[in-house]
Parts: sequence; C-alpha cells; structure tokens
Amino acid sequence: MNESPHVAPAAPALAGADTGFTSPQPGREALTATPEALLEAVLAANRRTTDPRLRQVLDALLRHLHAFALEVRLGYQELEVGLDFLVRIGKATGPEKHEGILLADILGLATLVGLIDAKQALAAGGTEPALIGPFWRAAQPLRENGAHIAAQGTPGERLFVNGRVLSLDGKPIANARVETWQASPGGLYENQDPDQVDMNLRGRFQTDADGRFSFYSVRPAGYAVPVDGPCGELLHAQQRAIMRPAHLHFIVMADGYKTLATQIFDAEDPNAYRDVVFGAVGSLLHRFERQADDSFRLDLDLKLEPGTMRVPMCPLP
Ligand code: BEZ
Ligand code: FE
Repeated sequence: MNESPHVAPAAPALAGADTGFTSPQPGREALTATPEALLEAVLAANRRTTDPRLRQVLDALLRHLHAFALEVRLGYQELEVGLDFLVRIGKATGPEKHEGILLADILGLATLVGLIDAKQALAAGGTEPALIGPFWRAAQPLRENGAHIAAQGTPGERLFVNGRVLSLDGKPIANARVETWQASPGGLYENQDPDQVDMNLRGRFQTDADGRFSFYSVRPAGYAVPVDGPCGELLHAQQRAIMRPAHLHFIVMADGYKTLATQIFDAEDPNAYRDVVFGAVGSLLHRFERQADDSFRLDLDLKLEPGTMRVPMCPLP
C-alpha cells in the first residue's frame, strides 16, 4: 500500500512541525488539498485501466460521485450511513430475494437502462422494455402452448394469453423462448407464498412456426414491493406509495434478435399510472378483454430488434 505518490501530506501542514519530513521529494508534487486537485488525481489513477469500457464507466462515475458529494456537502457520518446501506443491501440478498435489483428498480435505474438499451428498437416500432425485477426464476418449467400455468385450486378469474413474437417488419419468429411469470390474485409470487405450489404461475414456452405462444392463467393482481429490507426503509423515508399495477412478465429470446424483457400491465388497475418502479409505460398498458363466459383474454404482439441474443442474469434459482 505504499505505491501512491499522492499520500505525502501537503507542504503547508508540515510547516514548523518536527516530522523529519522537511522537504518534498525533488521532482514530485504533493497533492494539493482542493476538490479540483483531488478529482484530477483520482481520474489520473484510473488512466491505466486497460479495459476501455471500464475506464470510461469509472471515469464518469468518479466525476459524478465527486460532484454529487460536493453538491450535497456530504458529511463523513452520512458517508457511513450510505456505506452501511449498501452493506445491508448485500446482506438482504439471497436465494429468496435480490435486494440489489429491487434498489435499481425503485431508483428508476433499471427502467432507464432498459430505455437506453432499446433506443433503436423503439425508434423502429419494437416493443417497449420493462424491468425484469427480482422474481424471475432460472428453472421455470417448459410447457406446451395452450397449457395452464395456474395450478389447480389457484383462485382468480381465468385469463387466456395469446401472443405472437415478431420481427420489426412483422414477420413471425419461430422457436423463440418465451419466459413468463406473474403474481397470484393474492398479489404474491409463488416463491413468496407458502400456499402456492412450486413454480405456480410461471412457465417457459416456445413459439410455433407462426411465432405464436399461448397459455391459460388467472388474472394477476397488483402487489406491494417487498419492504422488509433497506429498500423498504428508503421508500418509507421518501413517503412513497409501494404498489405495482397488475402485470405479466415476459422475456423473449431468439437467435439473431436482441433479448426483450418486458411486462404487460392491466390498464384498469388503479395503480397503472403510479408504478413504484416506473415500469408501467403507456404502450405496455393493455386491456384484458372480458369474454362472454366472464373469463379474460389478452392478445399481444412482442416485436424484437435484430441483434445478439443474451440470457439476462436470473435473480432467483
Ligand atoms: C416485479 O415486477 O416482479 C418487481 C419489480 C420490482 C420490484 C418488485 C417486484
Ligand atoms: Fe412483477
């Protein structure tokens, strides 16, 4: 830890003190104790980062972090509170819940990153993205098209989902992998709810030659995001509403296309216009159409942009 030339105390602090450290090393400059000089030194320390993207990201992060601390005149005790918050986010993350994803979601960061990623697709008429959230599971069961994803005994109004996966020019995409998951009418995902069977209201489908997938389910309900961890404390401090409008999640993956993660929201949900994680954008609000037998039907087209397929990080096993 002795490699930094910046650790020598600034010369004025030494004046008259009997430190035995009376003259700076010739040809080397001690750090001047100003925010500007500090930032310059911190940025210089990043200049040899070999990965160019990492260097770019760190460079911007450092500039914004220093500007932020200066703007709010961050105190040391506040820095401690912030660091403790991050530690607790880590400790609250496990196989049951990913508090880190929840944090990115309630800050609007996940929605922003989705928008940045999908900029070109949106300009060309692709489906809008929405955050994945903390409840996608890795091993969702592969089911036949037309299967039920709601186990026997799941309460709620019956819903039929009839989807197509299309390219931007409207051509069907066959053999696409479609992941779906949703909360029950009680507002809980099966992994949060001891009364639901494992993998209830979850499934993985493959599109047919016409790009179609379909399944039976129950109409989902809105729910409160988990508030038993540090994210809950933050939401409470901000006095924010904690509800998400009812929705179904989809992730669509197909060779030759960029992966689409999105959600389809029930436009009739009273929270459709105040989603705590900012995911419920206009084009994703759909009407679940009531049928003659009082069941509901959702028809949807999911349009993918050409590109490289990527399997997103899955928050839960
Ligand atoms: C979800 O949509 O599953 C979700 C997103 C953010 C926070 C909590 C849940
Ligand atoms: Fe959800």
